[in-house]
Amino acid sequence: MRHFLTLRDFSKEEILEVISLGIKLKKKAKKGKFKPYLKDKILGMIFEKSSTRTRVSFEVGIHQLGGKGLFLSSDDIQLGRGEPLKDTARVLSRMVDMVMIRTFGQERLEEFAKYSTVPLISGLSDRYHPMQLLADFMTICEHGKNKNLIAAYVGDGNNIANSWLMLASKIGFEFRISTPKGYEPNQQVLADAYKFAKKSGAKITICENPKDAVKGATVVTTDTWVSMGQENEKERRVKDFEGFMVDCKMMALAQKDALFLHCLPAYRGYEISDEVFEAHADEIFDEAENRLHVQKAVMVWLDKQR
Ligand code: CP
Ligand code: NVA
Repeated sequence: MRHFLTLRDFSKEEILEVISLGIKLKKKAKKGKFKPYLKDKILGMIFEKSSTRTRVSFEVGIHQLGGKGLFLSSDDIQLGRGEPLKDTARVLSRMVDMVMIRTFGQERLEEFAKYSTVPLISGLSDRYHPMQLLADFMTICEHGKNKNLIAAYVGDGNNIANSWLMLASKIGFEFRISTPKGYEPNQQVLADAYKFAKKSGAKITICENPKDAVKGATVVTTDTWVSMGQENEKERRVKDFEGFMVDCKMMALAQKDALFLHCLPAYRGYEISDEVFEAHADEIFDEAENRLHVQKAVMVWLDKQR
């Protein structure tokens, strides 16, 4: 049995297999064909943080696969009142077929996985957001941008940045990242990425100046400067991230037909200008939609490993 807690645990071949299944399921869905790969299977979905896309895509996804999703907000279940995670894991394992958790520390996912006898999927932690990066890479592939890919990430060295490092270093493309001082990606993740890059041929560059990162890029991306749980740091962060907004001037440095991706929710006037967002809205909402298709692929794939 496998869990899906980080791209770190997956090979290039496995990641590509999941993405091509996602593309296949999307094509079928567009024709109104929904094969019940997970008929009558139940997905428990624990949310310790807010969500629009993750919640809706998993709930719709499991439904389209013939199963059912259970939305479990930590405000409503005993976990939120202090029931140990390891007990929650053992109870849910007796009743559901798969679990998705959105939480704070990555160690919470690891602890749940240790006690779970059913596959566990990360729906985001402070460390990583693997489902998002699968959707991002699927979008890149669909737009024909996976060849000679040069991706540039400008902004906070957060869960999305860490996940980009994992994706790039596993797949083997060029990835440049620029963050303000003090907001670098996780050092362990960076060390792992350099290690994986040796095998995959990925080129990973840290750029002090965001313009250097974006110059000639074929995909540009960013994320909020204030992630969930950091709300009280907003004022300081907004000051520290000055010069890191992806606006038209910044985007003009990328290749002419460069894609712009954003995991959403986007905060216009902070990490992204309204102009850039609206000019790239088609690909941004393809990216959001692909969460649905690729996560269906993840669920089918994990079920097959059992
Ligand atoms: N991108 C993403 O995970 O969105 P939600 O927070 O709405 O789930
Ligand atoms: N970095 C953001 C991603 C939201 C999908 C957060 O963790 O809040």
